Amino acid sequence: MLSAVAPTSLRPADLLRLTDQGAADVLDGRHDALLPPGGVFPTGERWCARLHSDDLVDLWLISWVPDKSTELHDHAGSLGALTVLSGSLSEYRWNGEGLHHRRLDAGDQASFPLGWVHDVTHAPTSTPDPATASGPTLSVHAYSPPLTAMSYYEIGERGALRRTRSVLTDLPEGDA
Ligand SMILES: [Fe+2]
Repeated sequence: MLSAVAPTSLRPADLLRLTDQGAADVLDGRHDALLPPGGVFPTGERWCARLHSDDLVDLWLISWVPDKSTELHDHAGSLGALTVLSGSLSEYRWNGEGLHHRRLDAGDQASFPLGWVHDVTHAPTSTPDPATASGPTLSVHAYSPPLTAMSYYEIGERGALRRTRSVLTDLPEGDA
């Protein structure tokens, strides 16, 4: 009997746990040396820093800014997961017929199996507190095996998903 061979020994639950721990480490200041000077994140471009890397998994901190989507993409042969530290994200996932939207707020988690195609972007926070509404949107992402490539997609005139290009990259979520 044929059986699918998983590309990694880690499960989505393992990746979710790693992003949760990574988020806690960022909040505890354990990665302060990797943050931009003064802890001030760029406001015009997405920013990222690799928190950890080994043969099995990459862990990234990403800062998101308005109006900079990732474009529809997959993660090639890698599983993925994320935990939102602060702010909010919008995800538009291809579900085979169209784009399904979900909002991910601080504390929310998501995992991405193989074949997951999505577009991710900063979302305005819904909090009425201006002190937290103006803060950056930060998320920690894990990929296993570590990212090596991504493909990009568009939705064609007939409503089908069409791959437009594939790139070799070890950077997360659309070449932050
Ligand atoms: Fe992604």
